[in-house]
Parts: sequence; C-alpha cells; structure tokens
Amino acid sequence: MVLNFAHRGSLTEAPENTLSAIHKALEHQTKAIEIDVQLTKDKQIIVIHDHHFSRLNENIHGYVNDYTLEEIKSFDIGSSFSKAYAHETIATLDEVLDICPKDILLNIEIKNIPIIHDGIEERVIQCLKRHNRLENILISSFDHQALEKVQALDPRIPLGLLMFYRLLRPWEYIQSTRLTLRSVHPNMVYVDQMLVDEMHKIGLEVYPFTVNHIDEYRKLIDLGVNGVFSNNPAIFGL
Ligand code: G3P
Ligand code: MG
Repeated sequence: MVLNFAHRGSLTEAPENTLSAIHKALEHQTKAIEIDVQLTKDKQIIVIHDHHFSRLNENIHGYVNDYTLEEIKSFDIGSSFSKAYAHETIATLDEVLDICPKDILLNIEIKNIPIIHDGIEERVIQCLKRHNRLENILISSFDHQALEKVQALDPRIPLGLLMFYRLLRPWEYIQSTRLTLRSVHPNMVYVDQMLVDEMHKIGLEVYPFTVNHIDEYRKLIDLGVNGVFSNNPAIFGL
C-alpha cells in the first residue's frame, strides 16, 4: 500500500497545519497526515511550519517562541487564506490529538531549524502519552539529533529521517547514525532508483516530499517509493 500523507493537513483547502486543514484531510479518507510542531515561549507545543507568523498574518512580528500560547491563540491566522477562516487559530498538538482518529497515521515533524527548541522531544512524547497515542505515530525531523533524543527517550516510537539536500551515499550515513528508523523522507527532486533501492536494502521505507503533480507521483511509484507527502493527496484519487 502506498501511503499518501496530507501535508500540513489539506493545505489547499484550509490554512495549513490548522484543525480545519486536518478535518478536510479526514473528509478525503486520508490514511496519513503530516504536521509540523514547535514550542511557544511558555513551552507549549504548537502546530506551525515557519519560525515566524508573517506568512499567516503579516501584522505579527517576531518568532514563534517570542509569544505565549495565550497570546498566540489570539492571532487570526486564517483570514490571509480566506475570510471564511477568520476565526482559525494556531492549533496545539493536544488539539490535533483530540481530533485525529487513532487509525490515522500521524506524522509529527519536529521543526528545530532555525530555532532549536530545547526540550521539544520530551514534551512531544509526554503529550503523546497523555493521549495514550503511541500507536500509529511517526516522528520525523531534519534535525537528526532530535531523532536521536526521541529514540533515547522512548525507543518504541517510529522515526522518519528527513533529508532536504542531496547527500553522498545517505544509506551509509544513516547506518552510521545507529538510529532505528522506519522511513527516510527525501526531497523528491533527487529521488532515483539507486536511492530507493539502497534504502530498501537497509530496511527503510521511502516517503518523498512534496509531490503535487500526478506525473511526478507516477514516476515515484514506478521507482518503488512507499508513500508521498502531498498538498492535495485527493488528486491521486486516494
Ligand atoms: O515532512 C515532509 C515535509 O513537510 C518536509 O518539509 O518544509 O514542508 O516541513 P516542510
Ligand atoms: Mg513538514
């Protein structure tokens, strides 16, 4: 089965990473959803991709960890998408776990660049445990030290290693990390047969990001990838 992750929820239909975007993804019978998480000033886990708010609301300056959750909850981050979402707020990981059914694979991407959110790994795991949600979870990050911390804190949690740039023989690098991974999540632009085959040889699934055109999708499926991240997985008829 090819896994089609709704990237930041269904971000073409609702503001990205919001509860509305997740509800939209669920309406499409999505089997897997990806979200990005960071910490607020008061160390609450919020669901947001950028380290600032300006793409969501140009009037909000500063960084995500300059504000408390209470302050952040007062921000309108939906109007820039559509007036219909004027009351949309930044979601917390708690809120996402409240609405995301346990049969949906939830991929939580820890964003630790350019802000290093000290302690985010512990907080994410505590949150998952509070929700009794250690099944059907996949934690990923471009920050491989964050993955190592998650593994040390709770080796039961499946991990996905993100790669943005093209590395030399990343399958050798991955083995040298001693991380126990479920999957590797490469930038789709450089995925080729050798990358897919070498990752499969070391037992990893391959989930490229971000795949938005049916031709790209078909090419990747032919290479044997196990899933993709897409802004609109519904276009693949799934
Ligand atoms: O996790 C896949 C993808 O989300 C990684 O890139 O920048 O969209 O978080 P980005
Ligand atoms: Mg992401």
